[in-house]
Amino acid sequence: MARKRNRGFFITLEGPEGSGKSTQIPALAAWLRAQGLEVVQTREPGGTRIGEEIRALLHNPANIEMAPLTEILLYSASRAQHVAEVIRPALEAGQIVLCDRYCDSTYAYQGYGRGLALPVLREITQFATGGLTPNLTCYLDIKPELGLRRRQESAEEMNRLDRETLAFHRRVYAGYLALLAEEPERWVTVDAAQSIEQVQLDLRAILSNSLDLGSLREKVL
Ligand code: TMP
Repeated sequence: MARKRNRGFFITLEGPEGSGKSTQIPALAAWLRAQGLEVVQTREPGGTRIGEEIRALLHNPANIEMAPLTEILLYSASRAQHVAEVIRPALEAGQIVLCDRYCDSTYAYQGYGRGLALPVLREITQFATGGLTPNLTCYLDIKPELGLRRRQESAEEMNRLDRETLAFHRRVYAGYLALLAEEPERWVTVDAAQSIEQVQLDLRAILSNSLDLGSLREKVL
């Protein structure tokens, strides 16, 4: 039977294009559930019906005229709905939330990538989320050249941001490294250039440690 924890735990996965987050997250969620934990697997932009509609707008390559401010407000609108409808209720019910991208994507892409002022982005984000911050952020580290090549070779359609220049993706990459350095206690880095299997093993080891799964298992046995 799935076990409820007293307090929820909010985990986000971050990384540049082609870092493999969407391949890793379902396997990670299945593994946590097999330990008897209640897990909500979700993503941004999206994660709710309204959020998925916003995602389609944001990713549509036809929307080339979208202004940077419109872009940040749409990501934030999707996030506000996501926090209210999915993330906060799950955490309050003691569940683990495993989320593919969150606020750090805004800082990396709209802040470092597009050059919008970080203090303004932080204020908008605070407003959208009520200040809800992840307990743990796993950073899947991949160089932009390799990540974009992987993305181009995959069956997934290239979205509006994938089509940005290499210079944009290099700024995003540098942005992630800066964010990581600012808050090292929240972030853990995994080398995403490794095999899919090894990345999964590294992620499991990190979560095992952060969620104290060893002691949870001992209590159950
Ligand atoms: P993905 O789900 O394939 O990773 O695509 C999400 C895209 O949206 C990706 O290019 C990163 C971008 N993004 C932002 O620019 N800002 C954000 O706040 C979020 C959540 C995503």
